[in-house]
Amino acid sequence: MGNPFEITPERMREMGYQVIDALVDYWQNLPESKIGARATRDELESLLRDPPPEQGEPFEAVLSQFLQEVLTRVIHVDHPRYFAFVPAPNNYVGVMADTLAAGTNIFAGTWMVGAGATQVELIVIDWLRQWLGMPETAGGLFVSGGSIANLVALTAARHATLGEELSLGTVYLSDQTHSCVARALRVLGFLPEQIVTMESDNQFKLSLSALKERVAQDRESGWTPAIVIASAGTTNTGAVDPLDELADFCAEQGLWLHIDGAYGAAAILSEKYKFLLKGIEKVHSLAIDPHKWFFQPMAAGCVIVRDFDKLKEAFHILPPYLQDKERWGGSVDLCDYGIELSRGFRALKLWMSIKTFGAQAFRDAVDGSIGLAEYAEQILRGMPDWEIVSPATLGILAYRYAPPHLSAEEQDRLNRSLVEKMIEDGYAMISSTVLKGRVALRLCPLSPRATKTDIEETLRRLSAFATSA
Ligand SMILES: Cc1ncc(COP(=O)(O)O)c(C=O)c1O
Repeated sequence: MGNPFEITPERMREMGYQVIDALVDYWQNLPESKIGARATRDELESLLRDPPPEQGEPFEAVLSQFLQEVLTRVIHVDHPRYFAFVPAPNNYVGVMADTLAAGTNIFAGTWMVGAGATQVELIVIDWLRQWLGMPETAGGLFVSGGSIANLVALTAARHATLGEELSLGTVYLSDQTHSCVARALRVLGFLPEQIVTMESDNQFKLSLSALKERVAQDRESGWTPAIVIASAGTTNTGAVDPLDELADFCAEQGLWLHIDGAYGAAAILSEKYKFLLKGIEKVHSLAIDPHKWFFQPMAAGCVIVRDFDKLKEAFHILPPYLQDKERWGGSVDLCDYGIELSRGFRALKLWMSIKTFGAQAFRDAVDGSIGLAEYAEQILRGMPDWEIVSPATLGILAYRYAPPHLSAEEQDRLNRSLVEKMIEDGYAMISSTVLKGRVALRLCPLSPRATKTDIEETLRRLSAFATSA
């Protein structure tokens, strides 16, 4: 029996052209399309539930089913007017690079098998390192996203600070830290009493004075303060913790400072806004997400550790069936620096995108996003009964409709209902959160395809829904 997956080269090209046509049509039509659609489980069960097919059908039929039945029932996180949560606008060079990485199935786990890919990954990480201003000892790797980047970095932090003596170690973060950090700490075996969640200050930042006090108290009580986790751009409001001061305090106290920069660290590219990240160059480890503000297709996150070797110390295990890779001594086996052995070539998309567009394009896009959030704030400040809950910071604005004739609870309900109304309308999507105990709406315009008109019309519709509620 021959290869059951054999396809002639002509047919392969034909299939490829159909996919590219579909992608380009999707891309072209996106700004004029609705933000997407939701669907109930029942609807999708009756549409898509099939027994596993024993016999195949033409590729065209399967592609068409994806385009007609699946793609029409998602909300497009790459839509220019997807302003909810953290958008994921990608770029076409990144898409092509992912296609190449999948089509060549390059393994980036060991130098022996994936030398070229590993070198590219090391170079891209080094570009990030240089932009961040971290020392040459720093290094890192690509993972699937911010959640895993935080987990990998915190594994190194735990290993470097506590070794096997986990039970008395304490970790500090703020109530604005992304939930993936709490999950990472749970995975790493920290118990709730070892995790100190500090109340953020009135700008939603970690308070240095409160932290100092708490660390001193914990030392007195016999704990071993070990790791401080700060955010460079919180998901709620874009707030940046006082990185510079935290770095100095952690250095003085012998604490590991980890930064979750999954959302905001990319703002280091911006000449205008990088001052907000002052001190980021001093941290011990950092998570940064190319599938957010570096406009890459999912999934791509990066972890960078000030002393690259700390990752290897935390992760390296050599089983006999991998011994051959060691004969390439002196090179870097990225499987030794993180959780994954089989690693795809995630760095290719960022490498090709930066080389194709140049860093300036990324700087302009980041400035553009931040500028659009500021523009939205400016408009909202002129709209009666709308309150700014947190000014536009690193591209995130939090606001709220607060007409005085409604109680705070009624206002909360109304604001929450606006998210739903906007989704039903389909022009743009926003999301909500809770800040200082009250519901707030968020707007995060990350897509480089978003325009001022998009912002104006989104706020016009939002206001119309609010006043007619
Ligand atoms: C600040 C922050 N940290 C971590 C994450 C988690 O990243 P990911 O979704 O890539 O795992 C996010 C996601 O939006 C985030 O905004």
